[in-house]
Amino acid sequence: MKALVTGITGFVGSHLAEYLLELGVEVVGTVRGRSRMDHIRSFEKDVKLAECELRDPFSVDRLIREEKPELIFHLAAQSFVPTSWNSPMDTIHNNVAAQLNVFEAVLRSGLDPKIQIACSSEEYGHVLPEETPIKETNPLRPLSPYAVSKVAQDYMGYQYNRSFGLRVVRTRTFNHTGPRRGEQFVTSNFAKQIADIEKGRKPPILYVGNLEAQRDFTDVRDVVRAYWLALERGVPGEDYNIASGECRTIADMLSLLLSLSETEIEVRTDPARLRPSDVEILLGDCRKFRLRTGWKPEIPFRQTMEDLLNYWREQ
Ligand code: GDD
Repeated sequence: MKALVTGITGFVGSHLAEYLLELGVEVVGTVRGRSRMDHIRSFEKDVKLAECELRDPFSVDRLIREEKPELIFHLAAQSFVPTSWNSPMDTIHNNVAAQLNVFEAVLRSGLDPKIQIACSSEEYGHVLPEETPIKETNPLRPLSPYAVSKVAQDYMGYQYNRSFGLRVVRTRTFNHTGPRRGEQFVTSNFAKQIADIEKGRKPPILYVGNLEAQRDFTDVRDVVRAYWLALERGVPGEDYNIASGECRTIADMLSLLLSLSETEIEVRTDPARLRPSDVEILLGDCRKFRLRTGWKPEIPFRQTMEDLLNYWREQ
């Protein structure tokens, strides 16, 4: 079995590649000249890395023709919400064009791989309290250019399945974190600030944005198991929430992280970290996915946060 992972050098891509290797799957991953390789150093020799610019249809065509993957996990994306306000065109282009190129290249190749696409709970956007926990049938009310790009990817998956029979499974993943999480995302950002303070690299002040938002966090290592199961047992064309079913405020997440450190730290709001519009609450109902695949998250949140903090302490 051969799997293609777009974005293999990223946070989720690197964890997924490790999991696929454990299962004995042959792994090919896309890289660009400027990709950072530190997340995949420990298993780089066990995977094939293919140079590919996903925004270039010719580059993607060549990749699919040469590698002939049976499974495609399409993870590569601009995934940080605030970046999408600073450069909305870049986010839309990156996320939508890359996926379009993958789908078109698959159609032209005549191959019939199963394709998982990384959609997002951000698509639900403005959710009213009485609309939780969020089911796949909830309205999509995106609140950022990033969320709009994910709605487009999601519906493109639906459309290519209906129009051409592409075997696309749409995973709408709620927040996920763990070791290697990029430092701009909230869990990692706070954990890194704590680790830096502990090491004396910065004064004991931790800067924060909106602490009232509520999020449903799953460990990345549980999420990559879900992606595998999505292609093993998911129904092509369908959308599936991937979530823990529990949510907490960002303030509670911060308290947990602070309780894992012995250092005295002052918390201060940094207005630059506030967003033009923030999604207030994301709490997922993933019964549809559980019933179909038997998946359930196994790593407790506290463990995830300890592992994340220790990851930053070791950097
Ligand atoms: N990044 C960041 N930094 N967020 C902060 C901070 C801070 O200093 N302080 C508070 N927050 C709040 C944000 O306003 C937001 O409400 C929440 O913490 C989570 O922010 P992020 O970690 O940046 O993630 P996100 O929820 O915007 O998006 C993530 O989850 C999506 C799935 O719901 C990303 O991983 C997306 O790629 C993913 O699709």
